[in-house]
Amino acid sequence: MHDATPPRLTIRRPDDWHLHLRDGGMLKGVLPDTARHFARAIVMPNLVPPVVTAEQANAYRDRIMAALPEGMTFQPLMTLYLTEETDPDDVARAHAEGIATAVKLYPAGATTNSASGVRDFAKVRPVLEQMAEIGMPLCVHGEVTDPSIDIFDREAVFIDKILKPIRKKTPDLRVVMEHVTTQNAVDYVRDTPKNLAATITTHHLIINRNHILAGGIRPHYYCLPVAKREKHRVALVQAAVSGDRRFFLGTDSAPHNDPAKLQPCGCAGIYTAPVTMACLAEVFETADKLRQLEAFTSLNGPAFYGLPPNEETITLVKDGPFDRPDRIETEDGPVTIFDPGFPMHWRVDA
Ligand code: NCD
Ligand code: ZN
Repeated sequence: MHDATPPRLTIRRPDDWHLHLRDGGMLKGVLPDTARHFARAIVMPNLVPPVVTAEQANAYRDRIMAALPEGMTFQPLMTLYLTEETDPDDVARAHAEGIATAVKLYPAGATTNSASGVRDFAKVRPVLEQMAEIGMPLCVHGEVTDPSIDIFDREAVFIDKILKPIRKKTPDLRVVMEHVTTQNAVDYVRDTPKNLAATITTHHLIINRNHILAGGIRPHYYCLPVAKREKHRVALVQAAVSGDRRFFLGTDSAPHNDPAKLQPCGCAGIYTAPVTMACLAEVFETADKLRQLEAFTSLNGPAFYGLPPNEETITLVKDGPFDRPDRIETEDGPVTIFDPGFPMHWRVDA
């Protein structure tokens, strides 16, 4: 008789360094999927209206904690939405009092609920200088919004036209390039020894633009920044599995209900929270780098943010493949769960 014990992998409990939890009925519906596997998450502030002030961040954190089911533990790390009116002193106070972990920069119009973002980067100089001084990280949605720039080039152009000048003027500013999607971004981060890191999503490690567009249009694979061609996906996988401390997981799990996704002008965002750990185990195993999974999900992020890694652990078990639920039901309607397009063999042991 052969040994039937399935492979197991125990790692420190992961964190999610870029997450959309929304509010109200949607928050209630999606929060357990994150809290089940992740200890902490950097919570995006792109609500309507956005989370701009320390006071708003405090109130949002209270709503998140009130939505957390009995018996679950989870620590939301709050962010402030940077506007041209943001007060540098409010930001400094939010940081000093532990209310906000980071500030989020959306170029105005770049993505979902970014209308209050930044148009004129000169106007946010005082805030960026204040942040550089106090060591508060800036999370950047790195895409230009110029309609004349092709959507597949917007990240690469942002790096050259916006990010490099900001980093040159404020080299002490700690920057996280969020949800990077290109070889260009990976190279830029690799070439920068200090004060720059990048999050990589679950879905950008798995899909390229063919998955969205070839053989029919698939709205559930549409997100921003949009997935690029295969060579970029391969560069992202190499960065993620490399163990390089500058790359860590930010799922960008971004729930929209199905009616909002499935319309003539559907919303950008992919809901990956429930399947992220199973997907990542598959991706890392395929790359023969399972031993680097913990660095990507549980060690590199805390190191950049100056926080201790989690003491608790989770165990992944390889006894699949599994039937994956297609969607979750929320008070805000059904939300389709990301389909990686391959069988998932690993699961998080309850
Ligand atoms: C995000 C959302 O829905 O809030 N959408 C997305 O496609 N990633 C916003 C964002 O992170 O760009
Ligand atoms: Zn996002």
